Amino acid sequence: MTSRRKPLVLGNWKMHGSIDMAERLLVALAEGAAACSGIGLGVCPPYPYLGLAAARLGRGPIGWGAQDLSAHLHGAYTGEVSGGMLKDLGCTWVLVGHSERRSLHGESDALVAIKADRALEAEITPVVCVGESLAERQSNATESAIAQQVDAVLPVLARAEAAGRAVVIAYEPVWAIGTGLTATPEQAQQVHAFIRGRLSANGFRGAPRVPILYGGSVKPGNAVELFAQPDVDGGLIGGASLVAEDFLSIARAAVQRV
Ligand code: PGA
Repeated sequence: MTSRRKPLVLGNWKMHGSIDMAERLLVALAEGAAACSGIGLGVCPPYPYLGLAAARLGRGPIGWGAQDLSAHLHGAYTGEVSGGMLKDLGCTWVLVGHSERRSLHGESDALVAIKADRALEAEITPVVCVGESLAERQSNATESAIAQQVDAVLPVLARAEAAGRAVVIAYEPVWAIGTGLTATPEQAQQVHAFIRGRLSANGFRGAPRVPILYGGSVKPGNAVELFAQPDVDGGLIGGASLVAEDFLSIARAAVQRV
């Protein structure tokens, strides 16, 4: 079965910005978004700017999401933000298991799966990030590392499918994040196809419909080639999402795929 997947481009602002900067960036994005029809487009600002995103992006073509959520529903969890709160703020997506969460905050595959479930319960689409380290790639352990991370969320994907909800996967090789080193289009395609194959091999019938984004130093200059790959359904953009013209140019590269 083949399935035309709508391209999706998401910006991950990480812990960058200020109210001023967020305001300017959001206004510039809202103004430039008209040329990006036919794709999904969204930004994931830091939590304090989500309300601003809602105000500036409103009902326009650009959505917004968060970079993380709590594994808990509510309660005495100082500093945590729940899926329900993100839903209140109009979030469409939430990143889970970004490599910076996995490596700097010790998030395990099991925790990532719980967070993805929490997102679904809040009716937010989880964007599950997976990726191998440089050491894993150099020791030919890319596929086993990715398989372990993907397998951990298989039950979540099955529950999402049963509930008629979407899950997005983002393949982000850790060695390519914020380093200026990008996976070649062939390397990206190979892993994306591996992920889709892994989902199918485990009996997940919705595999052809799962959007798989590539992330890791995507720039205006390499986006077209990356997005031209058959299993690369868009991108998760870090650094380049902080510059309106760069982010919009990457989004236009995804429009070419439509
Ligand atoms: P980068 O970040 O585009 O700056 O490499 C991508 C990400 O971490 O999501």
